[in-house]
Amino acid sequence: MTQQNNCDVLIIGSGAAGLTLALHLAKNADVVILSKGPLNEGSTYYAQGGIAAVFDEHDSVAAHVEDTLIAGAGLCDKETVEFTAENAKPCLEWLIEQGVAFDKEKDNDGEARYHLTREGGHSHRRILHAADATGQEIQTTLASRVKQHSRIRIFERYNAIDLICQEQSSESANSKQCIGAYIWNRNTEKVESIYAQKTILATGGASKVYQYTSNPDVASGDGIAMAWRAGCRVANMEFNQFHPTCLFHPDAGTFLLTEALRGEGAILRRPDGSRFMPSFDKRAELAPRDIVARAIDFEMKRLGADCMYLDISHKPSGFIKEHFPTIYERTLSLGIDITKQPIPVVPAAHYTCGGVMVNHHGKTDIEQLYAIGEMSYTGLHGANRLASNSLLECLVFARAAALEISDSLKQENEYIQLPQWDESRVTDSDEDVVIQHNWHELRLFMWDYVGIVRTTKRLERALHRVELLQSEIAEYYQNYKVSNNLLELRNLVQVAELIIRCAMERKESRGLHYTLDYPDKFPEAKATILKSRE
Ligand code: FAD
Ligand code: SIN
Repeated sequence: MTQQNNCDVLIIGSGAAGLTLALHLAKNADVVILSKGPLNEGSTYYAQGGIAAVFDEHDSVAAHVEDTLIAGAGLCDKETVEFTAENAKPCLEWLIEQGVAFDKEKDNDGEARYHLTREGGHSHRRILHAADATGQEIQTTLASRVKQHSRIRIFERYNAIDLICQEQSSESANSKQCIGAYIWNRNTEKVESIYAQKTILATGGASKVYQYTSNPDVASGDGIAMAWRAGCRVANMEFNQFHPTCLFHPDAGTFLLTEALRGEGAILRRPDGSRFMPSFDKRAELAPRDIVARAIDFEMKRLGADCMYLDISHKPSGFIKEHFPTIYERTLSLGIDITKQPIPVVPAAHYTCGGVMVNHHGKTDIEQLYAIGEMSYTGLHGANRLASNSLLECLVFARAAALEISDSLKQENEYIQLPQWDESRVTDSDEDVVIQHNWHELRLFMWDYVGIVRTTKRLERALHRVELLQSEIAEYYQNYKVSNNLLELRNLVQVAELIIRCAMERKESRGLHYTLDYPDKFPEAKATILKSRE
């Protein structure tokens, strides 16, 4: 017998998007938040640089819009960009009301104002931040608010497996509606179900599909894969952003070196100390990320070098320690004193620009199902995301979704009996090595064949391998009990297929998608939209 839980609103994911939505909704609804690991574990916690919004009197929403459109290489949806930039300030003010403490400085009259940093592609200083650990400040503040709320229940260490949908009897345009999800309780290792009037996917990105990534382990594209299996459209999955500067060190694991370092004057150097960015772009180190990552990749391949170097040692040591305390401490623990020496860096997969297609309220193609945050495709990022626009998108779309959900919630919730989870035919796996092997294989060939520079041949090879893995994993999934690694692998391989299929459809190079077979850009920009075969 599958244990069934019930609520008004189910939010799958506890990052900036999920927690913001929960706090906006809990006045009117009983909310359950699902978190695959500990509540704070997700990309939000690790965000460094900050959030973009117009707080400086010399800046303007129009300039924020313009910078976003330029970074997006012609593929952003202008209305979405305007919607986001216009809503940025009120959303940040809400965050500040929740208790998030952004760094301040004194202006010329001695008045305190927010310190605004700068990042690549921004024409003004417009990034609010909490030193170089902005995400930690946001995540822990929102998490503590959520924990105090009487109408929010937190299901920690629960993996959502699949959405539960039913055909609609009404005359609605969409034939399907979502009524909840199957969830795997990692504490008891049992599958349960959860009924909800409204289900919101806020599961973050999919960068773990690549061997090298700045993202934490939970970023396995689960929500994108679940929505796709349920019948939602996805778009622009070929645009995976590679962050130019992750720490290159055998003991570092994944550690990002924020773009704000370059914003505050850090320079990229070859191993011989020479500077190279000015010969790639007139904006040099402050060019958008796709350009900087490709330049680093190009120089590494040309010189056969393991890494390039990021150098801020020309700045006063006190300034570096004040603005980048986390990075200073972390690198020092590895024997690198950034006040005196350059830092070895390589690009790594960082952000999923595409995702599940939604409208301005986060609504997907399926009734009662929403998607917000990194896993959604709103049209904001186009072919390349502008730095610090991601946390912003989480806040803006969580708020917009909350407005629509509050308006359409039924006051009397009639709980529907959900279908049982059938595990009558599955046994415990005695061959976990298969999962481990497939994990490594997938992430390695995605890095090698579907990375910063692509070719049609490499994409075809990758697709062929994905299809083989898919059939092996499907068989495994049908025969063995679920585990975290198996669930994530099933989702990752699905997301890999979507990335490759989108990349194969784009017969041009634009933004983050660069292919040697089609190096030019079409005059007209079009999103790549995939429809489920269901
Ligand atoms: P996340 O914060 O990733 O949260 C996802 C949640 O979903 C987690 O709680 C996870 O447990 C849960 N989840 C996933 N799958 C399941 C499942 N199957 N079942 C249950 N729960 C599930 N952006 C900026 O704008 N500014 C920055 O300075 C910045 N710096 C960054 C630095 C780093 C190192 C990284 C990795 C990213 C950075 N980004 C930055 C990007 C930004 O942090 C993310 O895009 C954003 O935090 C995503 O928020 P989210 O709420 O969509 O997802
Ligand atoms: C960074 O701090 O460089 C990351 C910012 C972002 O991903 O927006």
